[in-house]
Amino acid sequence: MKRTEITPVPVLYQEEVPMTEPDRQAYFITLLADWMKHEIERLQRPMTYHVQTFGCQMNAKDSEKLAGILEAIGYVEADTEEADFVLYNTCTVRENANSRVYGRIGYLGKLKQKNTNMRIAMCGCMMQETHVIDKLKKSYRFVDVVFGTHNIYMLAELLYQNISTRKSVFDIKEKAEKIVEDLPSSLKYSFKAGVNIMYGCNNFCSYCIVPYVRGRERSRAPKDIINEITELTEHGVVEIMLLGQNVNSYGKTLEEPISFAKLLQMIEKIEKLKRIRFMTPHPKDLSDELIDTIKNSAKICKQLHLPLQSGSTRILEKMNRKYTKEDYLTLVEKAKAAIPEISFTTDIIVGFPGETEEDFNDTIDVIEKVGFASAYTFQYSKRTGTAAATMSGQISPAVVEQRFSRLLSVVQNTAEQQAKKSLGKTQEVLVEELNIQTSGYVTGRLSNNLLVHFPGGKEDIGHIKMVTLKECKGFYYMGEAE
Ligand code: 5AD
Ligand code: SF4
Repeated sequence: MKRTEITPVPVLYQEEVPMTEPDRQAYFITLLADWMKHEIERLQRPMTYHVQTFGCQMNAKDSEKLAGILEAIGYVEADTEEADFVLYNTCTVRENANSRVYGRIGYLGKLKQKNTNMRIAMCGCMMQETHVIDKLKKSYRFVDVVFGTHNIYMLAELLYQNISTRKSVFDIKEKAEKIVEDLPSSLKYSFKAGVNIMYGCNNFCSYCIVPYVRGRERSRAPKDIINEITELTEHGVVEIMLLGQNVNSYGKTLEEPISFAKLLQMIEKIEKLKRIRFMTPHPKDLSDELIDTIKNSAKICKQLHLPLQSGSTRILEKMNRKYTKEDYLTLVEKAKAAIPEISFTTDIIVGFPGETEEDFNDTIDVIEKVGFASAYTFQYSKRTGTAAATMSGQISPAVVEQRFSRLLSVVQNTAEQQAKKSLGKTQEVLVEELNIQTSGYVTGRLSNNLLVHFPGGKEDIGHIKMVTLKECKGFYYMGEAE
């Protein structure tokens, strides 16, 4: 073999390939690690990877797993797309997310012309849509590996296929077949981590594509979740974010059903764990048991991300959200009465089909009554295949723009008012990083998720400090450690 030729992957003997997971993937990782050693020798340099994540925390978590597999093979992380393996983990929740991805795939094609060792892969929610796959096959033929949301665990196997056949590999599963545990994962931070507790969604809110691209609800077994968190804490993690599209439905479909509140109570007992966060609970089934559990917990952060979407009962019904404006406000009052220091954050959509000025005013009214500490605000984006896409009364972009800017200023106002309330208090802060702007300062997060900058050093990172909030700068504080 000439030294310039690409190393062939080790031959695979079908009878040797394990049929069960995660052994099967471990097998492919070993074969590729062997291939990688020869490639490094041929190229006289390490082979690099870059994973670019679009979208939500679920995707960010999936990306950590994908990076874990690539690192197990022997790839080394690169900061930019000038790498030997570039993977886009895509989002399709709003139209502009899709457009951004297409623009960037074109750029990847140019990079590939310069680096003949480069491989390009696409995964995530966008890949579950047939029109996207058709477009990739037709217009972006240089993409090497494409898979969806249900088989991210198969990355090593699909990459092996691509290298051994020298052909593009497409593997999109329509449904989730199984939950694969115990694959490698690469953590972005050493002290905080996201942990999936369930996958998929059964709610079919009329605007939302997620149930179509992430499938039906599946919960992980409590013991797998507890083991993962315990293991993480053994490696220095003190804060976890439990992830699911609708965490209040956790455990309902398990062989031995268990509530989300019970799961939280079990997690609370993990000794080295200091902080527990979760997202996202659906207002329609947030139980008294959960409010009680938050109230009685020393570790669950007193912050609730509770997506409102709209404050108008009429629009909420069209959205298929299954609660009214009054239900939402009652729930917030109940939580505030039980946990006086609790803060609320939310998601809001402006310009849903048929939204009138009166409906929009209801949204503003709820924002002011609840006093959100922050809100993710979105302009309604029509997603083909969802129920809302064919509804009459789509709102003109000019009206949406106008409402959106009014919404932003109202949210800014409530956020500032909420932030001021903590001024002068001394609270726990988990230090996350050195302050980028001011040397000799560190940046950390309060239990309510707001940022605090205060004098400190590298040794504080990953530790919880008591910090007095001296100055409120709108959405963050300047503080002083005790
Ligand atoms: N248009 C605009 N926003 C949307 N979201 C979900 N689907 C759409 C859509 N079609 C928002 C919701 C959800 C968040 C993750 O994204 O507010 O809570
Ligand atoms: Fe989408 Fe509604 Fe499910 Fe959230 S609860 S993922 S908004 S369908």
